[in-house]
Amino acid sequence: MSRKKITVIGAGNVGATTAQRLAERDFCDVVLVDIVEGMPQGKALDLMQSGPIYGYDSKVTGTNGYEDTAGSDIVVITSGLARKPGMSRDDLLKVNAGIVKDVTLKAIARSPQALVIVVSNPLDAMTYVAYKHSKLPANKVIGMAGILDSARFRAFIAMELGVSVRDVTAFVLGGHGDTMVPSTKYTTVAGIPVEDLIPRDRLAQILERTAKGGAEIVSLLKTGSAYYAPSAAAVQMCDSILLDKKMILPCAVLSNGKYEGCDGLFVGLPAKLGSGGVEEVVKFKLAPNESEALKRSAAAVKELCEAVDRLGF
Ligand code: LAC
Repeated sequence: MSRKKITVIGAGNVGATTAQRLAERDFCDVVLVDIVEGMPQGKALDLMQSGPIYGYDSKVTGTNGYEDTAGSDIVVITSGLARKPGMSRDDLLKVNAGIVKDVTLKAIARSPQALVIVVSNPLDAMTYVAYKHSKLPANKVIGMAGILDSARFRAFIAMELGVSVRDVTAFVLGGHGDTMVPSTKYTTVAGIPVEDLIPRDRLAQILERTAKGGAEIVSLLKTGSAYYAPSAAAVQMCDSILLDKKMILPCAVLSNGKYEGCDGLFVGLPAKLGSGGVEEVVKFKLAPNESEALKRSAAAVKELCEAVDRLGF
């Protein structure tokens, strides 16, 4: 039996760190693709040479073409421009839609059975672009964002209370943008509702910091956006799929009648991920204000998808 194969498109910070984390997991081979000559090859070689020290046998191949990607089980799309300070994720729409369309077509031509995980921004709209051009069934196209946004929320709560991040469960739903919806109703610390542990005003500040978590890092880095947590989130999705763990993770998935205002859109919802990709969009009963916020967030995603269609992508 050969190992599973994951293609990571884009060998920038997010793509290369995703490749590194996947290689270190030691359960699949990785093909790293980028248009910059030599760069994916160099990073792949560097990762191969880390294997003896870390003890992994994952084969990592770097390439500027798509021949080596044939037969991939998962394709992770990270290509596109990252935000600069002052830019919103939506500012990236036009240029990244063209890139995501192009790489989706090239990758799926060689791996028609693959599942696609989209990481490029604006996330929800780029997931729609990949869905449209891959012609894959909706359960095989998934956007990475909710895990990242939830991880930020979890980290801030753990920092606030001085507790283990492992004890903090949280769901951030909706679009990966300013309208994202951190659900406090389902946010718990060792099973205790967070609202019982953190005063309302302080919790509101933490929610605000979570929603602007990506921009906070962009403004610190100045030359790009976050990549450690985004790559960790993408790899958790690969884990749940390749190991058929059936974890319930917030991801951008095609909504199918379970959440008001979200139908027909790729938007962050709780999804069960297993070997079949999205095996179920899990229905939670949201608090009334959360439900309203999710509808607003879905409406913002819809506008971006309409822009994608209007621009011809
Ligand atoms: C972030 C960017 C990558 O949230 O969307 O960090």
